Amino acid sequence: GTAPRLQKTIVLVGMMGAGKTAVGTALARALAVPFQDSDEEIVRAAQMSVAEIFERDGEPFFRARESEVIERLLTGRPAVVSTGGGAFMSEANREMIARLGVSCWLKADLDLLWNRVKGKNTRPLLRTADPRATLAGLIEKRYPIYGLAQVTVTAEPGLSIDEMAQKVIAA
Ligand code: S3P
Repeated sequence: GTAPRLQKTIVLVGMMGAGKTAVGTALARALAVPFQDSDEEIVRAAQMSVAEIFERDGEPFFRARESEVIERLLTGRPAVVSTGGGAFMSEANREMIARLGVSCWLKADLDLLWNRVKGKNTRPLLRTADPRATLAGLIEKRYPIYGLAQVTVTAEPGLSIDEMAQKVIAA
C-alpha cells in the first residue's frame, strides 16, 4: 500500500477522553499495523472491568498490571498502542516507552475532555463528588509530564478521528 512502514510502536498517551482509543484504532488502520489498548488487555486478563479491578484490588495493583502489559505490547512488532491516562505518569513506564517505542501525547483541553467523559461511569478516578473538578486537577498534575512525550498532537473539537490520525502521522 501507500502507508509509510512503521519502524517503532507508537504509544498514545494523554487524559481519559482525549481519544487515544478512537484515534489509535484509525491510526493503526492507516498504517496497516495492529492496534492494542492497554486497558483492554488488563481487563481481558483479569476478566473484570477497570472499575472492578480498582475496587477489588486497588489502584497500585492496576498500575502493576498496566506496566507489565505495556512492556509486553512494546516488545512485539511495530503497532499502535493506546494507554490508560495514568500510564505515562510512571517514570519507569516513560523510560520503557522511550526505549522501545515513540510516545505521542494527544492533548485536549478540559472542556473537550469533560464533554467526552461526563455521563460515563467507567472511570473510577472520576467517581467523586465533583468529577469535573477532579478532571481539572488531574490535568494540572499531568500536563507537565505528558509534555515529556516525544510528539504532541492537539485535539480540536472540529477534527474527525481520521483527521486526528493524519495529524499524528504528519507529526
Ligand atoms: C486512568 C485512565 C483510564 C484507566 C483507569 C485510570 C487514569 O484509561 O486506565 O481508569 O489514571 O487516567 P483511559 O485514559 O483510557 O480512560
